[in-house]
Amino acid sequence: MEKYLISGGNPLYGRVDISGAKNAAVAIIPAAILVDGPCRIENIPNISDVNHMVEMLYKMGASVKMINKNTFEIDCSHLRSVAPPHDMARSMRASYYFIGALLGRFGRATIDLPGGCYFGVRPIDQHIKGFEALGAEINIEHGMIDATTRDGLHGNTIYLDVVTVGATINIMLAAVRAEGVTVIENAAKEPHIVDVANFLNSMGADIKGAGTDVIKIKGVRELHGGSYSIIPDQIEAGTYMALAAATGGEIEICNVIPKHLESITAKLEEMGAEVIEKDDSVVVRKEPGKRLEKANIKTLPYPGFPTDMQPQLAVLLATAKGTSIVTEGVWDNRYRYVDELKRMGAVIQVDGKVAVYEGVSELSPASVKACDLRAGAAIVIAALSASGTSEVEDIYHIERGYEDFVTKLTALGARIKKVQVPDGGELERVN
Ligand code: EPU
Repeated sequence: MEKYLISGGNPLYGRVDISGAKNAAVAIIPAAILVDGPCRIENIPNISDVNHMVEMLYKMGASVKMINKNTFEIDCSHLRSVAPPHDMARSMRASYYFIGALLGRFGRATIDLPGGCYFGVRPIDQHIKGFEALGAEINIEHGMIDATTRDGLHGNTIYLDVVTVGATINIMLAAVRAEGVTVIENAAKEPHIVDVANFLNSMGADIKGAGTDVIKIKGVRELHGGSYSIIPDQIEAGTYMALAAATGGEIEICNVIPKHLESITAKLEEMGAEVIEKDDSVVVRKEPGKRLEKANIKTLPYPGFPTDMQPQLAVLLATAKGTSIVTEGVWDNRYRYVDELKRMGAVIQVDGKVAVYEGVSELSPASVKACDLRAGAAIVIAALSASGTSEVEDIYHIERGYEDFVTKLTALGARIKKVQVPDGGELERVN
């Protein structure tokens, strides 16, 4: 078992480079299935979720060359399977992108129902509605999805009942090589949707409107190889922004697209942190010891405040002056980290999708758990802001989504160590 040992309470200073966007990479890698020829993909974050996707492709017969830790050349011309490996598909959410990509290329896919972080029910009905509208037949039995087509996929107009990132991308993948025109209405607008469309267009697809709520895809016969670089990760950047506001100090978050961070910037400024936007970086500054002001947060699809930043900002509300209210507008259950924050002295009441934070003057160190990826990042921020030594367990969740987390934090002056804990073993303290 591995844990983080964190000695918190000191302000952080320095620069951090943001990696490529996880949620773009986990879609772009299976999207390579649609391409005949080698795709050189740069700025791939070196994290377990992404490495998992690459390994699945490799096991299905793709040729994969690692150029360096963030650049892969993937050629799916000779893919020999339409069934991604069971255990791997089951263990992560984004494996559902294999359905759209395999249907689009071969008209067939067989895959386990996806896993991933638990935020309450995570249906895929809108993905299925989209595939069926394009002419696929979908059977779900014994935890497996079997998707087939009789005579290929045909363009259609699909109105999504809810704004969903996954279904928007998945339908786009299926439609790229379908006959005719597909229109996705009420589409999600997240930056990584635009990135997936840009990747596909650079390989010869004809997708217009990504980033708006109507996406039009004109089917093309085939896609050709090429080279593409993934955008910076909006949520990784936001996490370091929240960190600077939590610990105090000054962090320049480099290699970002400041426009993608506007909702986070606005909330941090409202709370009293200083944010300076530059061309491709943002600087977040807060006087050590100064308490932030309360704020209310409602998470929404992009360009609203991202649900994937809710736990990290909540850590700030836990010690802000006064009472703050968070309303989760995307997932049914995204407050599992609250019990961990309470162990650190936070005063929080949750009622369904609403959480009320009574700001306390400081958090105290504790032994806590990472409940999921973003909750885990939030707990690390909390531990770094609390004076004294905390332990964070179940850190594999965090390492699914944050490249070189300990190295990047250490370079900012954080006192954090990853330690192996033998069963029943004692932890060494860090100072
Ligand atoms: N929904 C449906 N039916 C569907 C699909 C979604 O009702 O067929 C609902 C969901 O239950 C949810 C809402 O629509 O209430 C939005 O779900 P969405 O499909 O947008 O989420 P996702 O594609 O499963 C991605 C990210 C999540 C992020 C959400 C929202 C990936 C792999 N995951 O999930 O990221 O929270 O979009 O922005 O892209 C993370 O990175 O930590 C993470 C969880």
